[in-house]
Amino acid sequence: MTPTELRALIRTVPDFPEPGIQFRDITTLIAHGEGLRAAVGHLAKAAQQSGAEAIAGMEARGFIFGAAVAVELGIGFIPVRKPGKLPVPTIGIDYALEYGTDRLEIDPDAIRPGQRVSIVDDLIATGGTAVAATRLLREIGAEVSSAHFVIDLPDLGGATQLREQGVRVDALIDFEGD
Ligand code: PRP
Ligand code: MG
Repeated sequence: MTPTELRALIRTVPDFPEPGIQFRDITTLIAHGEGLRAAVGHLAKAAQQSGAEAIAGMEARGFIFGAAVAVELGIGFIPVRKPGKLPVPTIGIDYALEYGTDRLEIDPDAIRPGQRVSIVDDLIATGGTAVAATRLLREIGAEVSSAHFVIDLPDLGGATQLREQGVRVDALIDFEGD
């Protein structure tokens, strides 16, 4: 399936989580076997072209696509977790979300120094999550070469923010101006 066909599998829920927000929901995409496989295939191809040696995904929706991409490429998966979940001493970072604030944590031993890591997540909006994950991964010695998303909301400027950090960014689908 092409990215244009995948776009039709994404459900738009009006006024969630706040009035006036059009929530782009991947639930309907991941319930569609062919659509899920195609989305993972496109993301994996892009990550492979960036020379990914490992995939990092952000809890929770980044685990769905990130782990699948890692399996597809036969490389490791690094979980970037919400707070209090990892059983070892972690390093963490607080960040602003589109709605509110949150925190991400990582196991400092999750990668080997200089390893080329590509980030995978379902969506980039303000870029707060992806920029925070990039900082954490770099703090533990990763070379963060690229980030791959199913959906970009370019009006919110996240991809631009992430590119300013020196990360190559692409997305399968843009939802712009609506
Ligand atoms: C959502 C989405 C991205 C992030 C994008 O995660 O899955 O990770 O927001 O927004 P940003 O670019 O403005 O940071 P969220 O933490 O809301 O929920 P999840 O746990 O379901 O992934
Ligand atoms: Mg998320």
